[in-house]
Amino acid sequence: MLKIDALTKSFGQKVAVDNVTFDVDKPMMIGIIGRSGAGKSTLLRIMNRMDNATSGSITFGNVDVTGATGAVKRQWQSRCAMIFQQFNLVPRMDVVSNVLHGTLNRRSTLATMFNLYPQDEIHKAIEILGRLGIAEHAPKRADALSGGQQQRVAIARALMQDPEIILADEPIASLDPMNAQVVMDALRRIHEEDGRMVIANLHTLDTARRYCDRVIGMRDGQVVFDGAPELLTTDAARDIYGAGADFSEEATSTQIETLDQAGSLELLSA
Ligand SMILES: Nc1ncnc2c1ncn2[C@@H]1O[C@H](COP(=O)(O)OP(=O)(O)OP(=O)(O)O)[C@@H](O)[C@H]1O
Ligand SMILES: [Mg+2]
Repeated sequence: MLKIDALTKSFGQKVAVDNVTFDVDKPMMIGIIGRSGAGKSTLLRIMNRMDNATSGSITFGNVDVTGATGAVKRQWQSRCAMIFQQFNLVPRMDVVSNVLHGTLNRRSTLATMFNLYPQDEIHKAIEILGRLGIAEHAPKRADALSGGQQQRVAIARALMQDPEIILADEPIASLDPMNAQVVMDALRRIHEEDGRMVIANLHTLDTARRYCDRVIGMRDGQVVFDGAPELLTTDAARDIYGAGADFSEEATSTQIETLDQAGSLELLSA
């Protein structure tokens, strides 16, 4: 359904994404991992067409979206919603209006200017917030929410577009372990319950292993691993992160323990 073929992006001499090819034949949850500068964000940005590829192609279904312009490009961008590390909400605007921004592509300029939203869209926004466990925050200003809550607002805004694909660029990199878990659980549930494809750039190997059906490892712009998380051996991880990285049991289990502790703390305080 999604076909990425020899996708390349250069910035002057720097090849940020180098001949990346992969196919996704059914909706799954994919984690993209790699060191800083490996090309993860650039890959997502060119997939969503926020930025143009230098060469190669992106095909979804039968549509080649690589060079799409105008309405076809906008349609593609609403089919593959993006969420970001820094949430990208309008801080002083209330939560529900932030979520309704997800429908911007479909609305007339006049309706947008006067902040007019149809009643059914408002209901839909509240329903989505409810699904993510944050409906009671709907009237609050976005900047009054915690990071984890703000990221769930951003996910709700993405869901307003009813996207087939959610591209998430380091969605939990700014969150503490407890909020990181809540956000990753939400993405996993959206994938499982709605059958949406989720492609997330993730900083830690453990998160990718824990949540994803497939892991793509990038190094210097290239895909150096593509497979099920079980196949991600210490050697494969070294290939992705470089020889100096520590993938011993102790080093990787610490992070899981932190998450578990945070999880039980959450239960205690509930
Ligand atoms: N607009 C740009 N102009 C020039 N170089 C860029 C631009 N965007 C990215 N790069 C370069 O492309 C390479 C890949 O960057 P990218 O942001 O995609 O990496 P990343 O894997 O997302 O890293 P991080 O984990 O730090 O977010 C880097 O060397 C970066 O400096
Ligand atoms: Mg990045």
